[in-house]
Amino acid sequence: MKSKETPSSLIMIFGATGDLAKRKLFPSLYHLYRKGRLGNNFAVIGTARRPWTHEELKENVKDSVLTSIGKSENIDEFVSHFYYQAHDVKNTESYIELKKLADKLDEQYSLNGNRIFYLAMAPEFFGTIAEHLKTDGLNDTKGFKRLVIEKPFGHDLESAKTLNAQIRKAFNEEEIYRIDHYLGKAMVQNIEVIRFANALFEPLWNNRYISNIQITSSEVLGVEERARYYETSGALRDMVQNHMLQMVALLAMEPPIKLSTDEIRSEKVRVFRALRPIEGDHVKEYFVRGQYGSGQIDGKDVPAYRNELNVDPASNTETFVAGKLMIDNFRWAGVPFYIRTGKRMETKSTKIVIQFKDIPMNLYYNTDHQLAPNLLVIHIQPEEGITLHLNAKKSGQHMETTPVKLNFSNTSTHGINTPEAYEKLLDDCLRGDATNFAHWDEVALSWNFVDKISEVWENKTQTEFPNYASGTMGPKASDQLLEKDGFFWWPVTDLDIDNC
Ligand code: BG6
Repeated sequence: MKSKETPSSLIMIFGATGDLAKRKLFPSLYHLYRKGRLGNNFAVIGTARRPWTHEELKENVKDSVLTSIGKSENIDEFVSHFYYQAHDVKNTESYIELKKLADKLDEQYSLNGNRIFYLAMAPEFFGTIAEHLKTDGLNDTKGFKRLVIEKPFGHDLESAKTLNAQIRKAFNEEEIYRIDHYLGKAMVQNIEVIRFANALFEPLWNNRYISNIQITSSEVLGVEERARYYETSGALRDMVQNHMLQMVALLAMEPPIKLSTDEIRSEKVRVFRALRPIEGDHVKEYFVRGQYGSGQIDGKDVPAYRNELNVDPASNTETFVAGKLMIDNFRWAGVPFYIRTGKRMETKSTKIVIQFKDIPMNLYYNTDHQLAPNLLVIHIQPEEGITLHLNAKKSGQHMETTPVKLNFSNTSTHGINTPEAYEKLLDDCLRGDATNFAHWDEVALSWNFVDKISEVWENKTQTEFPNYASGTMGPKASDQLLEKDGFFWWPVTDLDIDNC
């Protein structure tokens, strides 16, 4: 559970000259600082290969805060806590120098030996760094030591196991914070509250009342400059293994007996264990892959995936996945969870639609009007909120129904932007709350699920790639996946809070 006290801590960022540090970590730390969540007893060491000075790092942090937030009160005081050390991740000497600086700052800022090691860099170095942190004594400290590790956590189950074994030599499971930034999103965290803090939903949250659940996470951007990584990953590993399955687990889990990290995580693990494995010939019945062709986004022509920088012109990598997941337990037997995610789609949106079963008999049926099903829509991003779709009486003499929508918008209700996912996750880590990070069991089970699908896809070239135009909602087969069950994807743009 989260401690309310502001902890003292030394935060070491490996990869401090990189994109993640600049776009997410520095602004998030600044927000926490402004909110008094960092206290005065903190120091940050940035490391990377480049031979920067402390001053260069400080300038970079200032720049990142200004660019991202647009203002920078007390920025000089904030950046005075930042230090830079050029570092070679494979070299013991480098770690010895780092330890000297860490020990000095520990003393100077009275940090009680508390250390957070944040690995914000290429995943191939995660294991090496963790091992050096132990052998070169950096994590031999009297305070807490925590390892924050970015995705991807491995490339498949085997490589994830190898990585896990490496980092476990230096850190206990409780000291490892595996980032899934979706778990830091305000509305993803809200799933649990909507379910477990309302008398209204939980009694209906099962196969007697829910007909299907749809989770869409669509992006407008293409692969950008990340093709080297993405070509070996694809949408299945990049989005489904982690973010999409995490949302499924939060939607499907049983109520935990209390809100402790262990209880919540073990309920999520039980969902992963109940996921029906999809393998061999069944993969094509349950999963659809897509790759974007050229098309138009906001009226501008955009290239096909195969024509992007560093992409193989005959690439078999999927940039879109749709799938039907079945959770074989008492609560969910027979209820499909449909997921879809992709790049270069029509709109940037993450939404969850819970579609309730039709009522047993429609008293208000007439030829031109059919009752719409009740929907609960959870808007994860860009809007944050929930909408409940109901039927009510149309005004006038006749007993005619009309759909109505009850909206709650998180952002407009609270009048401020909710904190960035990274800010929340850093705050959690500082306070020792690992609930919103992925436990090894979750990671292993989700790789196990995904590996069976990628194995089939990797062995069989998709001859129809590209199979969806940029700016659309994916290939036709994705629609057919639901049609054969008598459902359809609720159009995400129609469900926007603004359109309600
Ligand atoms: C990352 C993926 O984990 O999530 C990216 O690696 C993807 O490919 C991103 O673009 C999406 O995150 P968000 O928060 O923009 O939905």
